[in-house]
Amino acid sequence: MNLSIRSETENDYRKVEELTREAFWNLYVQGCDEHYLVHTMRAHSDFISELDFVAILEDKIVGNIMYTKSSVVAESSHRIETATFGPISVLPAFQRQGIGSALIHHSRKVALEKGYKAIIIQGSPHNYCKHGFKSSKDYNISDAEGKFPYGLLVLELEKGIFEGRCWRYYSSDVYNIDVNAVDEYDKLFGHKKKEYKSTQEEFRIASRAYLA
Ligand SMILES: CC(C)(COP(=O)(O)OP(=O)(O)OC[C@H]1O[C@@H](n2cnc3c(N)ncnc32)[C@H](O)[C@@H]1OP(=O)(O)O)[C@@H](O)C(=O)NCCC(=O)NCCS
Repeated sequence: MNLSIRSETENDYRKVEELTREAFWNLYVQGCDEHYLVHTMRAHSDFISELDFVAILEDKIVGNIMYTKSSVVAESSHRIETATFGPISVLPAFQRQGIGSALIHHSRKVALEKGYKAIIIQGSPHNYCKHGFKSSKDYNISDAEGKFPYGLLVLELEKGIFEGRCWRYYSSDVYNIDVNAVDEYDKLFGHKKKEYKSTQEEFRIASRAYLA
């Protein structure tokens, strides 16, 4: 497979939003908001443009990964800047061929080169533990309310960076999406039917689960 990965350019924006919509549509909720998220993220102050990549197969954009700045803060005013990816998308017809893994590996390497100490995400452990992510609880990193969500996952880039303290994780407010704006933005894309899939129920369960 002749896959290449390069930075996203302005010419790719529409294609990336379309592929994101294809990848997420009806998967976690009826419809999806990730194509709108991608659109707003690029203009947000937390966006990390140097970690915005597309995967290309035979001149076609088949995948994308985007990161924003996040942070963890310990009781006594210690703060570490971290990087958070999401969305990550691969066109459905090209999934399960290693493209998502290639995007994670490539961006992780660049994040390390740029000096990020860790990547922290919210997602399915099934997708990310195989890439070295562990539960945030293993590093004493809770969410902003002091709880340990099932899907809060951490990949240390500097070993031992979180040792000896209890941390709280803060993600970018770009993820607080205005649902009305999503509906308006979605009108700019071709019609797709919103419908129920059992993966939505799986997501509802996983997103309400916390580690004791
Ligand atoms: C999640 C996502 C980005 C993964 O991308 P992907 O390109 O399918 O990922 P990979 O191909 O690297 O890995 C997926 C699976 O295919 C397997 N695989 C990889 N290359 C393979 C190959 N050549 N032949 C067969 N299987 C292969 C991997 O082992 C993995 O298997 P597993 O799920 O049993 O562990 C993609 O499925 C996607 O866009 N999903 C919808 C959006 C989404 O959920 N994003 C993440 C939100 S948390």
